[in-house]
Amino acid sequence: MFAVVKAGGYGHGAVPVAHAALEGGATGLAVATLEEAAQIRGLVDAEQILVMGGLLPAQARTAAATGCSVAVSNRELAEALADSERPVPVHLKIDTGMGRFGCAPEDAPALAQLIDESRGTRLAGVWTHFAKSESDADTTRRQFELFIDTVSRLGVSPGMRHACNSAGALNHPDFALDAVRCGISIYGCEWPGAKPGLALRSVVTHLKTVEKGATIGYGSLWRAPGQARVATVAIGYADGVHRARANRGHVLVRGRRAPLIGMISMDAITLDVSEVPGVQLGDTATLIGRDGDQLITAEEVAQWSDTISYEVLTSIGPRVERRHVE
Ligand SMILES: Cc1ncc(COP(=O)(O)O)c(C=O)c1O
Repeated sequence: MFAVVKAGGYGHGAVPVAHAALEGGATGLAVATLEEAAQIRGLVDAEQILVMGGLLPAQARTAAATGCSVAVSNRELAEALADSERPVPVHLKIDTGMGRFGCAPEDAPALAQLIDESRGTRLAGVWTHFAKSESDADTTRRQFELFIDTVSRLGVSPGMRHACNSAGALNHPDFALDAVRCGISIYGCEWPGAKPGLALRSVVTHLKTVEKGATIGYGSLWRAPGQARVATVAIGYADGVHRARANRGHVLVRGRRAPLIGMISMDAITLDVSEVPGVQLGDTATLIGRDGDQLITAEEVAQWSDTISYEVLTSIGPRVERRHVE
């Protein structure tokens, strides 16, 4: 399994997450960029790090110097890598329907042979990516079959074959081939029964009682229906609380769900804590995670934010202090 630790380990911190994933049984790590590969260098053999994102031919020399496995989708990059000093392990990406990266299936044999025959490259793997593995089994099967058919026509040894992301691995374990590339599931999201790896917490920094009719925040989007106790919490959209959450969803305070009220500010949100007894300055506010009997998941936050759990996690801003617990 490649543990996908791009985007700062989906917001959790790439290096600690990579450590944990390798201890947990992953044999490789996957990232999007050469910079991300550099951050995790040394944790595993360089070849076991797959740089999945698009690289320009101008980056070929830098990519070759890392010793990492490199994704190739086009002839331009394959040719730029072809005279590298040491053979670069290349994973040829084949576009079976995602439409983003990858060569056309009909171009794959010629590219695979170029990579195989060039002094500076070695065909270490072939791979594809599913477009709808979480929702559409027929499309996913068609993509998989096209991939297998294309690989059978390469005319050279394909090396490691991999296709599945988390939803692919969950819904189609028979498509696992030689490796899977799992991101969101290793963080405890989008996988039945998984335990979330992350909690997002802040503190109450201001408290007040407002009277009926008082308005709160930019745009005066919330108006007190009666006397209310309002808590201001030190986290905002700069920290990853999406503005779509204005007047939506909850935050946990003292083990209770407090409604989020008003617009999200850059550095602050406001909660109606009228139903939460004893709230004090400095109280913990849990935006994702557990407090007492209550749990808020990234998936739940995603619904309130009109997005997906991936964006909720990767939006957590740089000024949010990360604490890693063994
Ligand atoms: C090419 C590729 N493979 C695998 C993954 C991991 O996907 P997931 O987080 O759904 O497991 C991603 C993530 O975006 C990806 O871009």
